[in-house]
Amino acid sequence: MIKKPATLGVGIIGGGFIARFHIRSWTGVRDADILGVFDPDAKRAREACDLARSLGVGQARPYASITEMAADPQIGALWICAPNFTRGEVMEEISHAVRSGQAELRGVACEKPLGRNVREARKMLELAEKAGLLDGYLENQVFSPAVVRGKEIVWARGAALSGPPYLARAAEEHSGPHMPWFWEGTLQGGGVLNDMMCHSVEEARFMLTPPGAPRDTLTPVSITAYTNCLKWQEPKYAARLAKASGGKTDYLKRPSEDFARSLLEYRDRAGRTLVVETTTSWCYVGAGLRLSMELLGPEYSMQVNTLDAGLKVFFSREVRGRAGEDLVEKQNAEIGLMPVVADETGEYGYTAENRHMVRSFLAGRRPEENFADGVAVAELLMAAYRSAELGKTVPIPFKGLESYVPPVARGAWNPKSR
Ligand SMILES: NC(=O)c1ccc[n+]([C@@H]2O[C@H](COP(=O)([O-])OP(=O)(O)OC[C@H]3O[C@@H](n4cnc5c(N)ncnc54)[C@H](O)[C@@H]3O)[C@@H](O)[C@H]2O)c1
Repeated sequence: MIKKPATLGVGIIGGGFIARFHIRSWTGVRDADILGVFDPDAKRAREACDLARSLGVGQARPYASITEMAADPQIGALWICAPNFTRGEVMEEISHAVRSGQAELRGVACEKPLGRNVREARKMLELAEKAGLLDGYLENQVFSPAVVRGKEIVWARGAALSGPPYLARAAEEHSGPHMPWFWEGTLQGGGVLNDMMCHSVEEARFMLTPPGAPRDTLTPVSITAYTNCLKWQEPKYAARLAKASGGKTDYLKRPSEDFARSLLEYRDRAGRTLVVETTTSWCYVGAGLRLSMELLGPEYSMQVNTLDAGLKVFFSREVRGRAGEDLVEKQNAEIGLMPVVADETGEYGYTAENRHMVRSFLAGRRPEENFADGVAVAELLMAAYRSAELGKTVPIPFKGLESYVPPVARGAWNPKSR
């Protein structure tokens, strides 16, 4: 029998960077408390718990294992926020804890990407299904208020009167990830394409899909992609990565792509062609993380750019403080005219995302963004890698998609040796 608390007790697996975003978003989430964190790094677990307690979003405490946390009757759902290379073992343990009767859970939510390739993503879905768990795929950008409200307005006015949109453009750019494991193709699953194009393709698909329509309203037809390593393979920058990783990351021999773009064709049910254009980069140096999205139709367009923030501050050259990320995520400077994203957890979509997941789990409903979407995203990304590898357009699905592992994820990619 599933426990039925009025308030959902949430346990977080992995107490790092993204867990802190989720915890901060919780001040805007109702009917759920963060009650636990499991992280093999005890300091990280303690810090995440302290943050939850200090914000008053739950009496979180560290647990010694995933199974111990899942088995606590107070915990009703788990949020997977651990690194990409741990997905399989983490989900195996959750699924086993439920199937062996040690844990009773309503649901599991998992950060992007669901897997490093299609096989891993499908395994996640299968394990959730086997355990009878509701599943949520944590793609925050489809919950971002500007994206959601933009979609609502454009479809209600522009599309209703002049026809559906035909082009979506999405870009995700910053100056590079904060932890060494992201830079290792074998651990992360790739470079910036895997890390950030997962947002772009899903956000663009969401915008082009009529409100309330199912995912299969649009059929992906083909993709043309390009990847390169423009900045971080330069000796000066490769040396910086080596230093930050204690000598482990070697971008001279084993780089991953720091720039990737794709052009994706969809067909809608009326046989029309729709296009998604994406650009992603770890070599963008601006004020900080820049997320942009455009949607274009016959008589309308919309655009969002997170660095066009309503709030801007100016510091003269006399103000020399510590480097930080207090103004905007992946901040690159502290002086001059700086944009500030006043409520990052809200504007990037984490608050609405977590509210949706909590409400869905409490109602016993599958979230609208779920593991099947995570699998679909993995399929698009693998097709993009295959296209970049072959240097030509590939159909979706392409032959061998199920077992495809991109060269960069095998440690066998180096654009300098092409
Ligand atoms: N939605 C977004 O925009 C977004 C942004 C950043 C990261 N992410 C995703 O979130 C996940 C975590 O990224 P991060 O930036 O927080 O990384 P991080 O390295 O900052 O934190 C990961 C944490 O997981 C812990 N960990 C390692 N192995 C573990 C295991 N087996 N079980 C539980 N915890 C384990 C680590 O000790 C660390 O504290 C990644 O999958 C990443 O792709 C999503």
